[in-house]
Amino acid sequence: MLRVVVLVSGGGTNLQAIIDAVAAGRISNANLVGVLSNNKTVKSLERARAAGIPAVSVSPKDFADREAFNETFLEKVNEFQPDLIVLAGFLVAIPQQMVRRYEGRIINIHPSLIPSFCGVGYYGLKVHERVLERGVKVTGATVHFVTEGMDEGPIIDQKAVYIEEGDTPESLQRRVMEQAEWILLPQAIDDIANGRVRMENGKCVREH
Ligand code: GAR
Repeated sequence: MLRVVVLVSGGGTNLQAIIDAVAAGRISNANLVGVLSNNKTVKSLERARAAGIPAVSVSPKDFADREAFNETFLEKVNEFQPDLIVLAGFLVAIPQQMVRRYEGRIINIHPSLIPSFCGVGYYGLKVHERVLERGVKVTGATVHFVTEGMDEGPIIDQKAVYIEEGDTPESLQRRVMEQAEWILLPQAIDDIANGRVRMENGKCVREH
């Protein structure tokens, strides 16, 4: 059984998609052993607790500097002894020590077709605002392994979503979640848990 820890910052709809997929057997060979948030008040913590998953928060506001926060945050992650760390709407930069320690064992969901609309400053609703400003006709979501560069790790899978007439950032965000994110992320966890996908020499390798 793969020990999975999910890191969240907000509403936690991706976390919910993972919880539901485990309950429905669409993710097998995986145990959700913990949820960790950088924010005390988020709905994600309620979702985790309702599913019986230990949930804790570590807020940067409670620390003198970023280094002190990173150290405690990494300790909390380590306590769960994860085999896989899933960034499900985790909107703070993760400590580089963590990326190095868990190389090939961290994945992230991003709400665009990487390498478009990603990197510093592109997160959450902001991504969809920029997509609409630019006027592209197709967007989507990407699930990828996390490496040191932001949103630069090997891509596991992507799904395209069409922009529709009259879309707002909110309506587009919802459609990208429904049609792409909530499908891609549970699928990637199931693929990793069942040995079909892994990171090797900086590339995503898929067994057929
Ligand atoms: C999701 O759209 C996720 O892709 C995005 O934040 C949202 C969180 O929603 N992540 C990023 O932008 C990462 N760069 P959720 O809390 O309801 O899952």
